[in-house]
Amino acid sequence: MADTRIGTNNLDAFWMPFTANRQFKQAPRMLASAKGMYYTTTEGRKVLDATAGLWCVNAGHARPRIVEAIAAQAGELDYAPAFQMGHPKAFELASRLVGMMPSPLDHVFFTNSGSESVETALKIALAYHRAKGNGGKFRLIGRERGYHGVNFGGISVGGIVSNRKMFGTLLTGVDHIRHTHDLGRNAFSRGEPEHGAEFADDLERVILLHDPSTVAAVIVEPVAGSTGVLIPPKGYLKRLREICDKYDVLLIFDEVITGFGRLGTPFATDYFGVVPDLVTTAKGISNGTVPMGAVFVQSKIHDAFMDGPEHLIEFFHGYTYSAHPLACAAALATLDTYMEEGLLTKGAMDGEDSGDGKGLGTYWQTALHTLRGMPHVIDIRNIGLVGAIELEPMAGAPTRRAFAAFLKAYEQGVLIRTTGDIIALSPPLIVEEHHIDEIVATLAMVLMSLE
Ligand SMILES: Cc1ncc(COP(=O)(O)O)c(C=O)c1O
Repeated sequence: MADTRIGTNNLDAFWMPFTANRQFKQAPRMLASAKGMYYTTTEGRKVLDATAGLWCVNAGHARPRIVEAIAAQAGELDYAPAFQMGHPKAFELASRLVGMMPSPLDHVFFTNSGSESVETALKIALAYHRAKGNGGKFRLIGRERGYHGVNFGGISVGGIVSNRKMFGTLLTGVDHIRHTHDLGRNAFSRGEPEHGAEFADDLERVILLHDPSTVAAVIVEPVAGSTGVLIPPKGYLKRLREICDKYDVLLIFDEVITGFGRLGTPFATDYFGVVPDLVTTAKGISNGTVPMGAVFVQSKIHDAFMDGPEHLIEFFHGYTYSAHPLACAAALATLDTYMEEGLLTKGAMDGEDSGDGKGLGTYWQTALHTLRGMPHVIDIRNIGLVGAIELEPMAGAPTRRAFAAFLKAYEQGVLIRTTGDIIALSPPLIVEEHHIDEIVATLAMVLMSLE
């Protein structure tokens, strides 16, 4: 007998990721198409994308150059093995990417997601110390509230409790430093908060606790995104770098969100003037079109592997889809789009609030902070084209107020993201002043209507 479910919209079959499945399936929010700054729903309603999808569609939706590159690539070379084989676009892309990073971040390892980039970076860090004869350096350090994807390494070094607590003992040899959130001193900061560089000293405490000879690497998001946008206090990241140097501990920046223009600079490493040993990226690398990630690696690390007989594989790691031809074509066209339109610096501050659309970070900042004083708002923070509005949680029902805000904003035609009781905003970098006005006006309406 024919399976009657085929061809019907069986909402039950798809177990949706990071979703309140039962709530969603009672009133599905379905997107049918997207162009530029807007989604169109299956009912034909336009929704302004204030989140660049999931922090990934930095050049906006359905950009012709990227669409055409993917289509052409599918017809030309649909797949090529990445193990013991290559194709030219993979090398072209790697060369262009390392050209965007400060030397000595001169090598790239390709993955298919942020989570895979994190696993890859952690494995490279451990294997590097071993290759150098320091196999005793096996500990990995993360940070409270950190998000590094959902694989076992990532949730082990990650610090979001709900992402960890269901899954047993996780990786052993992992510890965490304290987070940097300090509303008491830093609420309503614009850009980097003034207070809290000393939170970095917690890294020294943890390294000394375990003995430096056992510590391999520390991983942090330069700006923590998924936990609700925590911007590092002034001087904090530089201090982490100094402590890592002192104890021969590798510093990994997880730039899955901050990479590719989100802060108004190509990478967070440019914004903060701190060069880590490894950088994980994904998302904006291919404008969210074809899944891809990349780990940037310093030469000293890469070169430590290039030893021994030349016919032997140097690093036993990789994915079937590493450097997938469609992803490479999409990423090359994405980089072209970013460069042609100056998108990677679009979110910079220009000291003025309006005008030519350059340095839009200032306009964004001023607009967001007009929401100060609205009901339930206990903090507003921003950097580049990222913003967050923290709400006072409902008594006894954490997350409920922000989730209500998400649903209302969607009804009003703006897609936002919420995590805990924080609204996170990260529009595509093609955003214009009138879009920002629309986002802020809608949020004002939503905040006024919340219980
Ligand atoms: C900092 C960071 N690392 C890793 C990830 C995981 O990326 P993915 O969902 O592509 O695996 C994310 C996703 O939001 C992220 O923000």
